[in-house]
Amino acid sequence: MSEATPFSKQIRSATEQQHAEAENSRFMSDMLGGALGVDSYHRYTGQLWFIYRALESRWDTLSEDPIAGPFIRPELARTAELERDLAHLIGPDWRAGLEPLPATAAYSARIDECARDWPAGYIAHHYTRYLGDLSGGQVIRGTAEKLWNLPHRGDGVRFYVFDGVGNPAAFKREYRGLLDQLPLDDLERRRVLDEGQRAFAMNTALFQELAQEFPAAQ
Ligand code: HEM
Repeated sequence: MSEATPFSKQIRSATEQQHAEAENSRFMSDMLGGALGVDSYHRYTGQLWFIYRALESRWDTLSEDPIAGPFIRPELARTAELERDLAHLIGPDWRAGLEPLPATAAYSARIDECARDWPAGYIAHHYTRYLGDLSGGQVIRGTAEKLWNLPHRGDGVRFYVFDGVGNPAAFKREYRGLLDQLPLDDLERRRVLDEGQRAFAMNTALFQELAQEFPAAQ
């Protein structure tokens, strides 16, 4: 792909194959195919809480950053939604029994490291999660509502509901425009693409650990 290719296209192509792997991972297929109990969804949602806490806890500083700043949009914030979902799914004491799996701890630590030291690398993580949540996340929401009888767009699936994003297609277009305008030289672009691949690999690693914990009934 030539260097003149818009960055939004480059990052999408660089992660396309890994996207298919994540989408078709055993854990996702089994969970969304109805082969696992609701506890798999609880466990997965709990892991997301650590990941979004890492993504969002440095927003005050990142919003002032010339590179990452334009990506920091309050309507994307998911931590409070996850907390509401977890309180509904597990109960008011949800935090007490919640531990990060090793893959979650490594993923959250890497996000935090980028958020602290490398704003351009942080964007790779931001893209991987929020653009995915605005896209395939909607498939996951609909399936979870049906499988576990959760209220439509209500507690339990609020993580997938972006009330502040009126038109997701327009939002994604604008987001891709921000990616395309990033003032990065060729070497830095390459490094950010690598970080995007790393972000996808870290999601797949989490799915593998979840698959070990929740083997589908034979
Ligand atoms: C885009 C489905 C899992 C990250 C998309 C799109 C679909 C989709 C249909 C295209 C939307 C569009 O063109 O506007 C799914 C389904 C999944 C899943 C059904 C699981 C069952 C994931 C995971 C990640 C992810 C685990 C990463 C953590 C992304 C990203 C995009 C995307 C970053 C935006 C690609 C781009 O346009 O640049 N997903 N996805 N997805 N997905 Fe997923």
